[in-house]
Amino acid sequence: MDGSEGRSCIDLLDALPRQRFVPGPTPVEHGPVLPGGARLWVKRDDLTGLGGGGNKARKLEYLCADAIAHGAKALVTVGAAQSNHCRMTAAAGAVLGLEVHLVLSGESPEVTEGNQVLSELFGAQMHFTGADHSHWGELEIARESVADQLEAEGLSPYSIPIGGSTAVGALGYARAMVELVEQCDAMGVQPKAVVHTTSSGGTHAGLVAGRALLRAAGIGVPDVIGIGVAKGVNMGRPDVAALARDALALIGASDVHVDEADVVVDARWMGIDYAVPTPEADDAIRWAARSGGWVLDRVYSGKGLSGLIGRAESGEWGPRDHIVFIHTGGLPSVFARGGAPSIA
Ligand SMILES: Cc1ncc(COP(=O)(O)O)c(C=O)c1O
Repeated sequence: MDGSEGRSCIDLLDALPRQRFVPGPTPVEHGPVLPGGARLWVKRDDLTGLGGGGNKARKLEYLCADAIAHGAKALVTVGAAQSNHCRMTAAAGAVLGLEVHLVLSGESPEVTEGNQVLSELFGAQMHFTGADHSHWGELEIARESVADQLEAEGLSPYSIPIGGSTAVGALGYARAMVELVEQCDAMGVQPKAVVHTTSSGGTHAGLVAGRALLRAAGIGVPDVIGIGVAKGVNMGRPDVAALARDALALIGASDVHVDEADVVVDARWMGIDYAVPTPEADDAIRWAARSGGWVLDRVYSGKGLSGLIGRAESGEWGPRDHIVFIHTGGLPSVFARGGAPSIA
């Protein structure tokens, strides 16, 4: 890779406006040897900046630029009670001087914890629906009704679906994929696989779109593997591929091919449900904390790393392989009740 191929991908990704929240490329850190002998690398997207950091900063760069282009005066979004996406949208609104409304699962708590403490601090208005986090349809209807109300008040709200997983939002991770492959190339590393946690599918779709762009430019690309931590939403294989294609279409790259086989979702590591801790994730959280000082959470990144370790244990990769884990964040929920594993 001589730089010009990566540059041509970035030029395409510059076709849409972007509100800068992430100061520069996030670090790629050297990790320990995995079971089976492969080398682990950690892409620190928990260090994106913006209200405590995490994967949503990259999606919000494109989403907020779109909101501003549409003349929005308010952002509305939706998520589970401890949503990182909602917390980071609250921070984005604070940076841009936009009113932020968060539609959340569950009842209004007596004491706010974790991500909610920060959302409140950033000045967001929280609307507790009483709905269970698995009732996405109910939550999305509540988001639409808050948006309608703000529209009637003349605030031209920009309404963001769960996880910011639209084609516009996914472009943030197409860009991250190009950034990562360029960083690896500069280090002389050719990763075999890029593993990340997937839930609403926007991060995954973006990585798949970025990979397709790089491949079309003649660059060798790693496998992209999503470790699924939620039922339904956009976790299904066809939806992620469709979202990736929609993202490519937005930047005039509809001719870049995304195959269904490009989307790999491994849903074996969720346990019984979204946000229900698993022993494997708790082990992965302790291992990451003690191997590299990395802080993972029990809902997302801990389960994601448990999937990576599980796949390594099954002999999928050998001593010559380099595997990148994208650390998508989640630190604030560690400070919510039940957010940290016991210290074994
Ligand atoms: C810490 C963390 N990791 C991963 C994800 C999954 O990202 P996506 O919703 O784009 O699939 C989320 C989503 O909320 C998250 O907060």
